[in-house]
Order: sequence, then C-alpha cells, then structure tokens
Amino acid sequence: MSQSLVTMSYIIATILFILSLSGLSNQETARRGNYFGMLGMAIAIVATVLSDSVNSYVILILALLIGGSIGVKAALKVEMTQMPELVAIMHSLVGMAAVLVGYANFMDSSSNLAGVEKIIHEVEIYIGILIGAVTFSGSVIAFCKLSEKISGKPMLLPARHWLNLGLLIAAIVLGQLFLSQAETGGGTLPLLLMTVVALAFGVHMVMAIGGADMPVVVSMLNSYSGWAAAATGFMLSNDLLIVTGALVGSSGAILSYIMCRAMNRHFLSVIAGGFGTGSGGEAAVVEGEVQPIDAEETAKLLLAAKNIMIIPGYGMAVAQAQHTVNEITKLLRDKGKKVGFGIHPVAGRMPGHMNVLLAEAKVPYDIVYEMDEINEDWAHVDVSIVIGANDIVNPSALDDPNSPIAGMPVLECWKGETTIVLKRSMASGYAGVGNPLFVLENTRMLFGDANATMQAVLKALKG
Ligand code: TAP
Repeated sequence: MSQSLVTMSYIIATILFILSLSGLSNQETARRGNYFGMLGMAIAIVATVLSDSVNSYVILILALLIGGSIGVKAALKVEMTQMPELVAIMHSLVGMAAVLVGYANFMDSSSNLAGVEKIIHEVEIYIGILIGAVTFSGSVIAFCKLSEKISGKPMLLPARHWLNLGLLIAAIVLGQLFLSQAETGGGTLPLLLMTVVALAFGVHMVMAIGGADMPVVVSMLNSYSGWAAAATGFMLSNDLLIVTGALVGSSGAILSYIMCRAMNRHFLSVIAGGFGTGSGGEAAVVEGEVQPIDAEETAKLLLAAKNIMIIPGYGMAVAQAQHTVNEITKLLRDKGKKVGFGIHPVAGRMPGHMNVLLAEAKVPYDIVYEMDEINEDWAHVDVSIVIGANDIVNPSALDDPNSPIAGMPVLECWKGETTIVLKRSMASGYAGVGNPLFVLENTRMLFGDANATMQAVLKALKG
C-alpha cells in the first residue's frame, strides 16, 4: 500500500476515533460510538498490516492470532462485574508494550539518526519506558486490588511523600546520565535503573490509594496507558498511534478530573496516595436496631407511594437484577407512579456501570438522573429503594470526618420518607466502612439476593 494511502487511512481512522469518543459521551449515541471505534480500529489495523513498515508477515499473523484469540477468550469469559479488572490488566499490557518497544528501539543498531534527532529519539525512548513502566506496575496492582487478590486498604509507608519525591528526583538524574552516556553508545545501566524506579513508583502509588478512591486510579491508569501508547507512537514514528494515544490520554485525564470532582478529592492528593484513610481518628462504629421488611410489605409501601426513587449499586450488577427492576418500574409507572433512578458517579466498579446495566434492561433514559440532578429533591420522595448499594448512600461520608469516605458526596436518600435497602447481609461496601443508614428509623432492610427479592416484590405487586 502506498504511503499516501496509509496516511489517508490513518486520518479516516482518527476521525472515526473522535466520532467514537463523542458518541460514547451520551447513552443514546453510545452504541453508534462503539461502531465508529470498531470501524476506525479495523481500518487502522488493515492499513498498518499493508504498509511498508511490515517486514515479516509470518510473525505479524502469528502475533495477531495469539493476541486476538486471548482477547476474544477474555471478552467472552469476563463477567460484567469483572470488567474493571479486565480493563486494568489491559492497561498493564499497553504499559508493557511501551517498555518493550522502548528497549527494542534502544538496542536497534540499524538506526542512523545523528545530532539533535538522535537526542530527541533518546528522550522519546526514556520517557516512553518511564510512562510504560509506571502504567504496567500500577495497573497490575490495580488489577490485584480490584480482583481482591490483595487488600484494598491503603498501604501507608512512613514518609511516603518523600519517597515519591526521591523516586522522581532519581528518574530525572538517571535521565541526565542516560542522555550523556547514550551519546557514546552506552546508557544501558541508567535505563535499567530508571525502569526499576518507575516500576517501584507505580506499585507505591497504587498501593497507597484507599479502596474508595479506586475509581480515580482506574481512570488515571487509563490516561497513563494513552500517554504510553503516544510515546510508543513517537518511538515508532507512527502518527496514528500518537494521535490515538493522545485521545485516550486526554480523555482519561478528563475522566479522572470528573471522578475526583464526584468524590470531592484533589487530583494531586489522590496521586500522592493515602486517600481513603480518613483524617487519622477511628471511624464511628454503627450501633442501632435494624428493621427488616419482607417482599409483601415492600410491595404495599410501593403501591401506597406516589414518588419512588431507585438507587442501584454494585450489588445490582452482582445479582443481575436490572431486568426485574425494569419490569417493576414498568408496572409501577403503569399504575401512575413517578419512578426515577438516582445514579451516583462512582456506583458499581467502573464509570457508567449502572447506566450500562439500565440501558441493557431498556430502562428509559429520561427517568435516569445524575446525583446532582436529584440530591435536593429527596424531601418529595415517598419510597427510595437502594438495590445493592452501600458506600454511595452512606451518611457518614457527610457527618463523620474520620470516615475513609469523608467528604465524598452521596445520594441523601434518608431525607425521603422511607428507604428500603436490598442486600444480603449487614456487610460493608467496597470502602470497608459501616453504614448508619441501615439503622435509621425510616430505613427498612430487605435481606437476600437482590434479583430474588426483586422478583418476590414483583410477584407481590402483581398479586
Ligand atoms: P458497594 O459500596 O461496594 O456496596 C455494594 C453492596 O452490594 C454490598 O454492601 C453488598 O452487601 C451488596 N451486594 C453484593 N452482592 C449482592 C447481591 N447479589 N444482592 C444484593 N446485594 C448485594 O457499592 P456501591 O454503593 O455501588 O459503591 C461503589 C464503591 O466502589 C465505592 O466505594 C466506589 O468508590 C468503589 N469503586 C467504584 C469504581 C467505579 S469507577 N465506579 C471503581 C472501583 C471502586 P452484601 O454483601 O451484604 O449483600
């Protein structure tokens, strides 16, 4: 394929990626956004495979077959609730690719760059490996935390901020050493040492972040993986990779900012670690009497209510209760009730998790509200149903300064008339803190798997 045709294909793929991102910003256009992304990626792969830069088709086809079959197998096997772990491990692969491409470029003896061009190429290699190694080790730790292979609790080393600063200074000094030695054909040792420093930084950064702040980490690593891909693009002189990497990097950075705002955190403080730990004192222990309720009584309360708000959380994803919830919603709306859904920005385990589930169950978009749209209106709500949510409806985020989730805005459902909480036990949520909502006077606990209890409620409503 001629170079101009390859460039043309890359421009078309870039436009499709931009259309894909803009499509994904809205539920109604998200499906179309996905198609644009798939088409863009297909064009990008075909153009790259047919370009002059490929010199061994056997290796390329083998790599495509191995990588493709692992991807297909993982995508078919993964549960919706495991998606964040899959995303985290995928990010680690992008980081690893940047490191490997960096070393391959460094060892490439056929390169005949000289002068400023050579220095720029060495800077690209150094930065590419640096970002790649941080992304790789950080994503592996995020994967282990999300899949509960290691504890979600923050690991707080003494003087951790000094340690971070030390690692940063080491990376800068090693960078200088690398550039001066690379001029005379050396530089391997500083490059290797920097890789170790970057790997250690990635591990330390994510280990220090508390469970409740993982959403920021996931989106931040998403952004890093974009920058790692862009750095790989510079090393390989591949314009498409640079643009795509920059798109992922910047959209990930914007998402991290949105997540931080949703959780009332400062971006830099989250990166520096140690969030999700409260301000040092002991978080209050929850004491009080729980008031259980059964499916029939729940149905009666719903039938008597005019204004109903449903708050879905991670447990709805685990129970796959969204379809039953949609049936109940339809039935109640047919009876003239006003039913809405309140979505917390970090509900579930990935950005937009609840929106995806509700869209899958065909809940109408116009009754799904963001937290900010409804948090003032709880006084008008007769019954709110909390389905497998916990941290996002925890009042201690607002009134216990020692709570690990202190300061995070939550859905203030307890300000409504009655709250019914569906969960299996009194266990805490992702942040590992007790929830005083469960013992409030106007709260009723409907224990059991959310799908089973929702079906029982549906039956009672029909009966
Ligand atoms: P959580 O606080 O994790 O609470 C989920 C609750 O669902 C649990 O208390 C659990 O209680 C219940 N549950 C689990 N399986 C259930 C089932 N089959 N039926 C009924 N209930 C079930 O969830 P949340 O309120 O959605 O909050 C999200 C949390 O995850 C936040 O802390 C957030 O920071 C964190 N996080 C979010 C993200 C993103 S990007 N959204 C990423 C990583 C972490 P039982 O065991 O008693 O049933």
